[in-house]
Amino acid sequence: MRTQIGIVGAGPAGLVLSHLLHLQKIESVVLEVRSRKYIEERIRAGVLEQGTVDLLVETGVGARLKREGLVHHGIELRFNRRGHRIDLHELSGGKAITVYAQQEVIKDLVAARLDAGGQIIFEANDVTVHGFDGPKPSIRFRRNGQAEELHCDFIAGCDGFHGVCRTSIPANVITDYDHVYPFGWLGILAQAPPSSNELIYCQHERGFALFSMRTPEVSRLYIQVPNDEDIKSWPDDRIWSELQLRSALDGNWKLAIGPVLQKNIAGLRSYVAEPMQYGKLFLAGDAAHIVPATGAKGLNLAVADVRILAQALVEFYKSGKTRLLERYSETCLRRVWKAQRFSWWMTTMLHKFDTDSAFDQHRRIAELDYLTGSRAAMTSLAENYVGLPWD
Ligand code: FAD
Ligand code: DHB
Repeated sequence: MRTQIGIVGAGPAGLVLSHLLHLQKIESVVLEVRSRKYIEERIRAGVLEQGTVDLLVETGVGARLKREGLVHHGIELRFNRRGHRIDLHELSGGKAITVYAQQEVIKDLVAARLDAGGQIIFEANDVTVHGFDGPKPSIRFRRNGQAEELHCDFIAGCDGFHGVCRTSIPANVITDYDHVYPFGWLGILAQAPPSSNELIYCQHERGFALFSMRTPEVSRLYIQVPNDEDIKSWPDDRIWSELQLRSALDGNWKLAIGPVLQKNIAGLRSYVAEPMQYGKLFLAGDAAHIVPATGAKGLNLAVADVRILAQALVEFYKSGKTRLLERYSETCLRRVWKAQRFSWWMTTMLHKFDTDSAFDQHRRIAELDYLTGSRAAMTSLAENYVGLPWD
């Protein structure tokens, strides 16, 4: 088999890349280890930045997102039993975020690629990448037990944090920057209408809590739990009572409760691999970097990377120039590090650390108090939350 771009991974990075390349008449094949059903049901992120929404809409894969996505003009920060609204729309000059589940984005992209005759090979096993330090890159894999090889001009490693592409680059080429937080998030999907029209980020002495949603009937809720917590120690009643305690308010507030549809625990991590390219292999999305979920940046960064990669590949195929390809990592990393900073800042401001001294606790409340009382500080939060400009 032969194609122009061999893409490993059908997450947001791989699928958006394949779609953008197709619009520019560049061929690609996507190799995905999981089944179509699995990736279309996997529950993950839910907040799309303005730029991500615009890109999906402008490139023709945003019709359902426009119809079903929930546009939010603000978020609430809650601490000391009081809520403070941040008007994202007004503070960012008219931008917003859209709540639309990652697996819905995946469904829309898979359908668009397949409708356009695109090739996504699901359940591709034992994927390995070869020859990217020379002129003939290739990807070997097994389909239905048969060994196959895909020859290509370039390989895009869009295979997430645990994929094979990053670790195939010689170790002495990559510098990694890694920070693991001493807590994770227990997330539930509940058959209960959202308790508020907008997302609520709660700072509380018992730990962080987040109130989000998926549809007008389904809530997505998170609480901070210790690292390596066993999910079995969190029966539904305990989760609801903890959510209740951490969101308590002087004033009107009623937590809507309903059957828990899904429950999981995910760790929080900040990670960057530098550079994001080696020879003819380019890493994008979680394959190259991870952000703690508090800033809602993971999916959006994946889309931002492949937008840059698609532009660089278009320049190469149109003019033979490698200028943008050579600068790919440098261009992406400027945005990546800013998202890292923002995600780290939101995480450290809103979570409880076991190592906190009384001084740290007072400083954290003072930071929130300052933030919610200062237009300048709220503007900074708003412009990062809705997404920094592309360039
Ligand atoms: P992925 O979505 O991970 O896609 C990589 C794809 O590659 C997957 O389909 C995988 O099956 C495939 N793959 C892996 N290895 C191979 C291989 N060897 N061969 C072939 N295919 C392979 N972000 C937020 O902003 N908010 C959240 O609430 C949030 N929750 C999350 C919960 C979980 C459990 C996880 C893991 C991530 C979460 N994220 C969240 C982060 C966000 O979902 C990711 O940043 C986003 O999915 C990145 O997209 P990607 O395409 O780079 O990687
Ligand atoms: C969601 C996830 C996040 O990490 C976040 O910061 C906001 C919302 C969500 O899953 O809805």
